[in-house]
Amino acid sequence: MDKLIVEGGYKLKGTVNISGSKNASLPILAAALLTDEPVRISRVPDVSDTNYMIQILSQLGASVERSSGTVRIDSPDGISSSASYEQVRKMRASICLLGPMMARMKRCTLPLPGGCVIGDRPVDLHVRAIQALGARVRIKSGNLVMEAPNGLVGATVDMRGDNGPTVLGTDNLMMAAVLARGTTVIESAAREPEVVDLANFLNKMGAQIEGAGSRTITIHGVEQLHGCEHTVIPDRIEAGTFMVAGALISEGVTINRICRDHVQAVADMLSECGHTVRFSSNGASVYVAPGVQPKGGKITTSPYPGFPTDMQAQMTALFSVTPGISVVRDTIFPQRFMHCSELKRMGANIKMDNGTAVITGTERLSGAPVMASDLRASAALVLAALAAEGVTEIHRLYHIDRGYEMLDDKLMGLGAHVSRVPDLKAVEES
Ligand code: EPU
Repeated sequence: MDKLIVEGGYKLKGTVNISGSKNASLPILAAALLTDEPVRISRVPDVSDTNYMIQILSQLGASVERSSGTVRIDSPDGISSSASYEQVRKMRASICLLGPMMARMKRCTLPLPGGCVIGDRPVDLHVRAIQALGARVRIKSGNLVMEAPNGLVGATVDMRGDNGPTVLGTDNLMMAAVLARGTTVIESAAREPEVVDLANFLNKMGAQIEGAGSRTITIHGVEQLHGCEHTVIPDRIEAGTFMVAGALISEGVTINRICRDHVQAVADMLSECGHTVRFSSNGASVYVAPGVQPKGGKITTSPYPGFPTDMQAQMTALFSVTPGISVVRDTIFPQRFMHCSELKRMGANIKMDNGTAVITGTERLSGAPVMASDLRASAALVLAALAAEGVTEIHRLYHIDRGYEMLDDKLMGLGAHVSRVPDLKAVEES
């Protein structure tokens, strides 16, 4: 286990390249199971979540080769329809194997994902979707056991839950429907760029999907899919995290390999708070620098193209040192505020009230030993540490490694004083 030591107060400067999207890669890797021909996926970030997915695919019987960001997957006939708890429990996103496994094998046993630190994360919408296509679903010994002996059949399914549309639920239904008989219409579909990237990948495999990126997606089932090559979209959350770093403590940073539309909500919020945000003319790069008179802001997370829940923790870190009062409300994961108690240990003034954080900016945070609790909470702690006075030690770094490729190297490239060292105390405790 490693910890990150951050010496705060050094202004970032320079250029950083954004990796491929973790959240687009995961369902795309799973979708490789939909064909018995090889697929080649480029710009898959080397983070532990994509590695977990690759391990699960291998355990199911696929042959997987990975070299410098490109993953080649070959899933010949005879793939297992049963995933092991040992693998699946490491990553909630393994639920996105449900759609491809059902489409390819017409049956599957998938351990139910357990609890999650960012809140109760039910899978009822995934189950409802697969049932709507004619599968029988039961829970046995902690597993979802699903069967559709006569194959899946297209249907119209509304995917809206109490907290809005579901991203991986939409992905699962799309992947299940591509090989179903007849037409499937997904109402209240998630519109996130990662859903569009998956639809593009599936269409390259021969699927017939229309409307991805809108509220209604139509899938005409086809007999079979074939191999293809695909490059994953840039990671908009990694890009957003570096944009916040640029606004927080820099002499200006340029963030390359991005897609302007995908980070527009974060860019708008940073501009509204008085920071400099300038896109290149092709929208593939953005320059961010701290404003002369920055002010706080008000964020309510919402599905794309609204402000992403995956960026609220990082903005909370920025607001902690921004003059005035800021308000952050998460409507998607109302309990996703674990980072606040750690930020408070660094001197942040944050009051929590029923899914809302009210932040009164302080002039300076001070370095402290802190504990990462989940991926984006860890990113918020790294950002806070960059701006804090003194040294911050961030424990449980494995949370960051789930979704940020070479974060410490990229920060060092921008002039940050960070180092990764073995967390001997954590080893003793474990
Ligand atoms: N929900 C249900 N029932 C379901 C599924 C979801 O009620 O069956 C609820 C959730 O509890 C939540 C809302 O619907 O309140 C939206 O959750 P969603 O299903 O969209 O989340 P997800 O697909 O499991 C993906 C990302 C998350 C990101 C969310 C929201 C991946 C691998 N994960 O999760 O990313 O926060 O969408 O945008 O794509 C992260 O990268 O740090 C991360 C957590």
